[in-house]
Amino acid sequence: MNDEQIKTLVEAALQARKASYAPYSAFKVGAALQTTDGGIVTGCNVEIGGYASSCCAERTAVYKAVSQGKRAFAAVAIAGGFDSGPVADCFPCGVCRQVLAEFCDDDLVVIVAENEEKWRKFRLGELFPYRFAEDM
Ligand code: THU
Repeated sequence: MNDEQIKTLVEAALQARKASYAPYSAFKVGAALQTTDGGIVTGCNVEIGGYASSCCAERTAVYKAVSQGKRAFAAVAIAGGFDSGPVADCFPCGVCRQVLAEFCDDDLVVIVAENEEKWRKFRLGELFPYRFAEDM
């Protein structure tokens, strides 16, 4: 992932964030997955009354991609923040880390973005070490 590709992915995450449905928390998140075939699949968080049925932006993106037959990902960009405030560091929750780990190895690039110019880059392996897997 070069800086230009990351910028494009962050733009997609910011765009996806606009569709966020977060009436309970007002915390809006967008995610964009870079597929290894060169495509981008986006997702936003969707909140449901009772909360347990809600879905984070990253999982929305993964489930959309898998539903389209895409299971190989090179990177994910995440942009989140309260509706009334700035987009700030929004790290994937534990459940989303496990879901990403289902389809990606430790080298998945995870971009936590404020905007197209300001972001930080991690590897899934550093955010989610010692993953659970039945075959390990
Ligand atoms: N959320 C995400 O969509 N992704 C994250 O990485 C962290 C949290 C959502 C879940 C919930 O809708 C809202 O942000 C507040 O927690």
